[in-house]
Order: sequence, then C-alpha cells, then structure tokens
Amino acid sequence: MQTLHWDGSVIKAIDQCLLPHQEVVLSLDDVDGLIAAIQRLAIRGAPALGVAGALGVALSARLRTGDGRLDEEAVRADAERIASARPTAVNLRWGVTRALSVLSEGAAAVEAEALRVLEEDERVNHDASSRAADLIIDLCPSRPLRVLTHCNAGGLATAGKWGTALGAVFELAARGAVESVVVDETRPLLQGARLTAWELGRAGIPYRLCVDSAAASLMKRGLVDCVIVGADRIAANGDVANKIGTYSLAVNAAHHRIPMIVVAPESTVDEELADGDLIVIEERAADEVRSAHGVLVAPADAEAFNPAFDVTPAELLTAVVTERRVMARAALPARVR
Ligand code: MRU
Repeated sequence: MQTLHWDGSVIKAIDQCLLPHQEVVLSLDDVDGLIAAIQRLAIRGAPALGVAGALGVALSARLRTGDGRLDEEAVRADAERIASARPTAVNLRWGVTRALSVLSEGAAAVEAEALRVLEEDERVNHDASSRAADLIIDLCPSRPLRVLTHCNAGGLATAGKWGTALGAVFELAARGAVESVVVDETRPLLQGARLTAWELGRAGIPYRLCVDSAAASLMKRGLVDCVIVGADRIAANGDVANKIGTYSLAVNAAHHRIPMIVVAPESTVDEELADGDLIVIEERAADEVRSAHGVLVAPADAEAFNPAFDVTPAELLTAVVTERRVMARAALPARVR
C-alpha cells in the first residue's frame, strides 16, 4: 500500500486518522481538502508532508489553468496556504517550493516536478535508513538489538513503503539484527500505538507497545540498546525538532549511555535556522490532551497545553543520519563517518 500518490488529477492518501482499524483511501481533489487532511493529520510525517506539498501545488496548477492560461498568482496564493498548514516540518514548505520552482513553465511542468519529489522519496529514505543501519551495527556490537522508537517514522510518514527511523529498523531486521522494538504509544495522538505498531505487525517484526513514561525505566533495566527517531526540522547546528517526547528520550538515553540516532532526508535540514530555538513549534488543540482517542478523560474545562513537537539539542544526539551524511556528536568508527 502506498501512503500517497497522484492518479493524474487527484491526490490519493491513506487516511491515517482511521488506522489501524480502517484502511480508507482519501481522494483529494481540491486545495482546501488537502489542507484539511494535513491539519487533522490524515496526512502526516515530515517526508509525506513534503510530497503532499508538491502534489498540492500540482493540483492547484491544474485547477487554476483555464483556456490554456495558468493563473500563477492564484497558484502562489494556494501554495502559501498549503505551506503554512503546519509550521514545524520544514519538508512541507520544501515540497511546495520545489513544485513552484517551475510554475512559469505551466501546469504539466509543475506536475512533473511534483512527481519527481514523489519518486525520489522512497530512494532517499531507503539510502538514509540503510546508512543508519550501518552506523547502528557498528555502535551496538551486542545483537540482536532491542530498539526503541517514538511516534511514527515509517512508510506512513513518507510517500512510499519505506520510512526513515522505522526504515532503519526494517533494514536492521532484514540483516537479522533486531530482537524486538519498544514502541512508545506517543500521546496525545498515538502515532506509535496506531501506526508504528501496525507497520511493524505487517512487517512481522516483534514489538512491545509501552506508555511513553516507561522509556526511562526500560533503559535503566537494560532493555533498550538503541533509540531511533525521525525529525521534522534539523537546524544548521544539528538541533532536532521531532514529536513531543523526543527530548525526554534523548536526556534519558544520554544518562544511560544509549545511542540516540535521528534518521531523516536532507529535505528536513533547514540551513537557514542557526539553532533549534528558532524552530516554530506547532501548538494543537487542548482537546487532544483532554481526550484519549476521542473520549474525554479530563474535566471538560481542564486547561491543557499541547505542543506537538520539542527540540533536542545536538549535543544529546549520537548522530543525525541523512541519505548523504552522518552528522555526529563524537568521533564515530571510520567506516561510518
Ligand atoms: O505530528 P506528526 O505525526 O506529523 O509528527 C511526526 C513526527 O514527529 C515524525 O517523527 C517526523 O515527522 C519524522 S517522520 C519520518
């Protein structure tokens, strides 16, 4: 199953809000529908947002062409609305910008560029995750590994079947190096419980689902060899924004001397931001915290604060791995540098 694709006139996307119990494919035939799908997290995960951004501009260019004339101004306005639909993952604006770069050549050129973004996605993420697997094999000599991951950085967070952090787990498993995966449930929206568990189950990789607050204790008890997560934005100094809870994992992993690896495509690197303090953190609705999967669990009038991401300082990370490089805190074995 492909997370996102283009059928020539509409964007097809698995509705991730309904997984794991219903597998429904959305047909998005206008920009407002795409923006709504992004904002309610039917389409989510940084690389998938990049592809959705590019396809959204292709959709707009198609709809804004009449009598052989493309209304560039209207497409640019749509593009800005798409790029602003969620603020933290830089991939969304990156994908929009890629597609817009050929706007003056017409709707067919925009569509072709968006399809290139889509096609590159799987290859790029495969390269990053295989490089990360090499690194982890070198860093963690005792195997098979007990890997901990947070949120969902699998095929569902990209356009294709191959993820970033979870892609590294798939790669390690293919090399016989995974004993089991600790899956953080990832409150409040349960991307770990709903999506990562679903992907690992389909891949036949053993996993155990844990509440987020179990991670430190599991590390202390020697039940975690390595933490692997994705990223939404990586600042020029290597600070990483990712799903809320990642920073706590990094603090705990550093305390227990467990490697903490980030896997992401280069399109997640934002060279324009000097450090992570400049990253805009999306704040989502208080009801997501007051409720658990749609059921109110707190007083209806409880005050709640819901930052969707946090920033982990570079010095807490063992390495950030992309399809092109390994950015490391300390000297790593020569083979993986
Ligand atoms: O709010 P989400 O579900 O879009 O958050 C997703 C994450 O934080 C992922 O870890 C990140 O986008 C990397 S996905 C390869």
